[in-house]
Parts: sequence; C-alpha cells; structure tokens
Amino acid sequence: MNNRTVKVAMIGVGAISGIYLENIAKVFKEVELIGVCDLIPERAQKGVAYMQEQKDNGVNVTVPRIYDDMYEAFNDPEVEVILNLTRPYEHYDVTKAALLHGKHVYSEKPLAVDMEEGTELVKIAQEKELLLGGAPDTFMGAGIQTCRKLIDDGMIGDIVGANCEMICHGHESWHPDPEFYYKRGGGPMMDMGPYYVTALVQLLGEAKSVVGMTKKSFPQRLITSQPHNGEIIDVDVDTHLTGSIEFTSGAIAQICTTFDVHYTGQARFEVYGTRGTLVVPDPNTFGGPILLLRPEDTAAAPKTDPGLMAKDIPEFYKGYKSMPLLFDYCENSRALGLADMCKALSTGRGFRANYQQQLHVLEILTSFSKSSAEGKRVDLTTNYERTAPMCYSPMHGILEA
Ligand SMILES: NC(=O)c1ccc[n+]([C@@H]2O[C@H](COP(=O)([O-])OP(=O)(O)OC[C@H]3O[C@@H](n4cnc5c(N)ncnc54)[C@H](O)[C@@H]3O)[C@@H](O)[C@H]2O)c1
Repeated sequence: MNNRTVKVAMIGVGAISGIYLENIAKVFKEVELIGVCDLIPERAQKGVAYMQEQKDNGVNVTVPRIYDDMYEAFNDPEVEVILNLTRPYEHYDVTKAALLHGKHVYSEKPLAVDMEEGTELVKIAQEKELLLGGAPDTFMGAGIQTCRKLIDDGMIGDIVGANCEMICHGHESWHPDPEFYYKRGGGPMMDMGPYYVTALVQLLGEAKSVVGMTKKSFPQRLITSQPHNGEIIDVDVDTHLTGSIEFTSGAIAQICTTFDVHYTGQARFEVYGTRGTLVVPDPNTFGGPILLLRPEDTAAAPKTDPGLMAKDIPEFYKGYKSMPLLFDYCENSRALGLADMCKALSTGRGFRANYQQQLHVLEILTSFSKSSAEGKRVDLTTNYERTAPMCYSPMHGILEA
C-alpha cells in the first residue's frame, strides 16, 4: 500500500514540462503519468513521444494518453492527481475545475495570482478534503534543507535578518512564449519570488508584515527569443520590486526581485545571525554551494567589495567555510514536491509543498505591490508553520512512508 503508484494527469505541456517528464520517468517511480493535455496538441504529442522514447530505451514507464481537453482528464476516473503546469494566470481556473471534479491538485507556482483566488482554492480543497499543493519544491532539495539544519542547529545563533536579490533582465531572450511574465500574475516577484520567499519561511518561519516599494521601468519589452522574435509585449505588472519582510521571530529580511537590471550572477541570498552569516545557494536550484562565515573566521576575509571587480569575488569569500550538503536531491529534482504529495496520498501522512505554505507565500509575494500602492506596511493575515524537514530515505526517488 505504501509503495503504490499514484496516477497523475498533466495539464500544460510547455517549457517546464520537460524536467517533470524526465523526473517522473526516471526518478520518482511512485508517480505514474497516465495522461497529458495541452491547448496546443503538438505539445502533448511531444510529451507522449518523450515517454515512448524512454520506454523504448528500457525505462519502466507508462506512455501517457492524450486528453482532448482538461475536462476529459478531470472526468477520467483513473486520474487521482492533476499536475497543473499552465501559466500563472491560468492556475486558478484549472485548479478550481480540477478540485470541483474531485481531483487532488499539484500546481506550478504561484498557487494563484491574488489572495482572493488563492483563498478560494484552499477553501474548496478543505471542503472537499482534497490535497492541494505545488511548486516551488526546490526548498526540499539538499541546499535549502542543509541551510535549515545549520540554522536550526544554532550555527549562526539567533537570526537577525536576511538579504535576497534576484537580479536579471527578464525572460524574453530565451523563453519561447515570454508574454505571461509581463501580464497579470507575472513579474519577478510572482515568478522568481516564490523560490526566495518559500526558502525564507522555511529558514526563518512565519512572516507577519511586509513593506514594499515597486515600479515598472520599461512599459514595453522586445522579444528576442524564437519563435516570437521582434514582437513587443506591453508590460502590465511591476518589474522592479524591493521591500522588507518582518518575521514573527523578530528577524527582518530585505528582498529585491527585478527584471529591469543588467547583471550577471542573478541570485544572492544571505542569512545573518548573531554568531555568523550563511550564504544560501540559489533557491531556484536544489543543491549548493553553501558558505558559512563565523566571527573567528572574519580576520581571513579581505575587505573587498565584490561589485568592483569580478576577479575579486572568490577573494571576497575567503574566510567563509564551505558546508557539505547533508541531504539527498541536489540535482534538478523538480516533481519532488509532487512525489511527496503522492506519497502523502498513499500513506495518509502530511506533505511539504502544501497549500498552507503556498498561501502564506502568495500573501507575502502580493504584499509588496500592495504596500507600495497604498504607501503603508501590510500586516499579513495568514498563519504558517514550517513543514517537516526532509527525512532520510534509503532509495533515491522513493520518499519516506
Ligand atoms: N519555464 C520555466 O523555466 C519555468 C520554471 C519553473 C516554473 N515554471 C512555471 O511553470 C508554469 C508553466 O510555465 P511554462 O514556462 O512551461 O509555460 P508555457 O507557456 O511554456 O507552457 C504552458 C502550457 O500550458 C498550456 N495550457 C494553458 N492552459 C491550458 C489548458 N486549460 N489546458 C491544456 N493546456 C493548457 C499552454 O498551451 C502551454 O503549452 C508557470 O506557472 C511557470 O511559472 C516555469
């Protein structure tokens, strides 16, 4: 019973579906993809072709069927979980309809585009006693889990605060359909913020208020990727968001997410404690590196500004100690959260990437623009309790019962 497979149907077979297909085929053997569906039939066919190729290569995998539309999947009595990989502004409609058809749902991030939608989805799931969860699941990887353990073990003392920066110039240079990044539910805080804010609440616990200053620097964006090269996107959302999050513990994190800045490096995430500083890996990945600086090591660190010269950056981290990863899943393990939810379904235990966490994160994400527009601090209404840390499980791809 504990190791039974859970039957899943995928709605949306776009850019991110590839890594889900790969990990469902090769890593998470208790997740069985029995059907796929996309508004663009060729994309669903491509997904099926990938799974067929795996099967032909000897991988023990089910080749999914194609549903003509999402309702066909929702009405398939064999399907237990709907995997919602549509665009952010479509999450609410797809998730709501799936829940109303009695299906459990795991959705890509964010849960929904605003609190009204998110709260309604949670209410439906609760009323119908269905599981609802979703990305990001990177916090379940070796990197953030190790950071959480180091903090919980007191390696940097009491937490003073954190600093997170996600700096890039948007996704229109590489994503084949980048328009959604600049429409309702898009922008860097809704797109990349979930990785940072989810990691923050995993490391620092419940948040209680948010202050934000946000803006959009470019009213239009030029697509330079194929196949829409040369097309213009009108920007409807804030694309440069900065602010602070106050945690119930008293810690204060500052965060900046932007699609407006030319930069290399993109991710910066540091947690400051009374007895040291932890450099946290890019929370959009599952692995390391993790660096720890303790007061006794600071003498070895030169006083260089990493912004000045790229060649000085390795020098800047002199004195920091590299921490070993203490958990499994350091490679791209997207679908780990789905596998954990499927395990919960077959065992009755809780799961980590759940709606309580997603809703708290959504409230934080949406509070930056709200605070900026209203010119005042936003007190959060949702409560949050950290989900269980990852447990040792002897077989990679099979989560603990
Ligand atoms: N692209 C990435 O690198 C990436 C990374 C992490 C997370 N995500 C998240 O994954 C989600 C999807 O992003 P993407 O980049 O794959 O987008 P995408 O536009 O490439 O794919 C979305 C797909 O969903 C399909 N779709 C929409 N509504 C549908 C419906 N009702 N029925 C069937 N198909 C439907 C679309 O036709 C499209 O093919 C987003 O929430 C995004 O935030 C994307």
